[in-house]
Amino acid sequence: MDSATTPPEGVRDLVVVGAGIIGLAVAWRALEAGLTVTVLDPDPGDGSTHAAAGMLAPATEAEFTEHAALRLHLAGAERWLTFAADLEAATGTGVGLRESGTLTLAYDETDAALLRRVLALHVTHQVDSTEVAVADARRREPLLGPRLAAAAWVAGDHAVDPRAAHGALLRAVAGHPDGVVVPRTAVHLEQRDGRVVGAVDDAEHRHRAGATVVAAGWASAPLLAGVPGVTVPVRPVKGQTLRLQADPSLTPGYVLRGLVQGRPVYVVPRAPATDGPWAGHCELVIGATTEENPDDRRASAGGVYALLRDARVLIPAVDEAALVEVTPRARPATPDNLPLLGPTHVPGLHLATGHHRNGILLAPLTADVVVAGVTGSWFGVDDAGTDPGATLAALRATDPRRFSPSAHDPRTPDGAPG
Ligand code: GLY
Repeated sequence: MDSATTPPEGVRDLVVVGAGIIGLAVAWRALEAGLTVTVLDPDPGDGSTHAAAGMLAPATEAEFTEHAALRLHLAGAERWLTFAADLEAATGTGVGLRESGTLTLAYDETDAALLRRVLALHVTHQVDSTEVAVADARRREPLLGPRLAAAAWVAGDHAVDPRAAHGALLRAVAGHPDGVVVPRTAVHLEQRDGRVVGAVDDAEHRHRAGATVVAAGWASAPLLAGVPGVTVPVRPVKGQTLRLQADPSLTPGYVLRGLVQGRPVYVVPRAPATDGPWAGHCELVIGATTEENPDDRRASAGGVYALLRDARVLIPAVDEAALVEVTPRARPATPDNLPLLGPTHVPGLHLATGHHRNGILLAPLTADVVVAGVTGSWFGVDDAGTDPGATLAALRATDPRRFSPSAHDPRTPDGAPG
């Protein structure tokens, strides 16, 4: 181990379990707030961050009835702009933020009807989206496929390169004089007098800290199973993404979203690579399957086939691209599809997990909320984006205590007043 990975002596201000984009974003903002920080992860960024396409897409990821999630995602998207600028300034590394908007496409009339219902949902939440004629969509993006029933333009849904952002965060944290990333697995949390006081790793090293943030994706649930007073119902939901390399002339200028006979699919283009084996080519990320399956890290032929079949409906030029990677990973999902953010009932223990399909989108907002919880500073109304009241209500819905048995629940199990 070199000095950037050697466990430091003494008690730290913060231990973060998990060095995916969530854990590292928390660690980096905590370092900026003046805390000393240790991060534990045997393989930083190899979980769902590795598969993620990087869509910053509150509008096109919106689900019916999930109003708090939509508000949270809108606030998350707003926060990315400063986060990316700060991170690029701190590290001198680009994070591949593209503010080029998203074209949403419907394959048949049933898909078009669903697309129009989604656009109506956007109207009720003052989200900017507009149906456009397919011919106009094709003028905007000449690579579109020949058979499309409807199209919409969503100006505010963007994308970032999660691997570039993660790499920059790792450099920012490991390169900070008060930051260290230890390549070890946290096997349990250290508890004393009803408090969490750090984590113990698989080399039996104790990492003591004033506060511990668990940001270990779906693995947060088994890690926390032995801590009385916290219930963390985070489950793995497998997703497969594909990475292709395409000539720039065969690369769309926008993120493409599609509904193809009821199945969602997306294609996220990146700028041409400047170096490496694919210099001059553009990465295309196609995603994603959503499977109630564990994190077996196995790609399925059916999943890959379905993604390619549906993506080539949106953009037939996919056929010409090189398929260079298939990435199966599991997202951390909760029963209400909202993350678990902030302090728990157990002193010293904070959560930053359960982000499901929106871990990349919510990383900057999560970092600010969780660091505010650790430092005891309330997350400011003025910082909460364009609709602070609605965003704060949505943040209250991410309370990590919501699944824990509550002393305030007045009912007995048979429903009678207690
Ligand atoms: N953010 C999209 C997905 O999880 O596939």
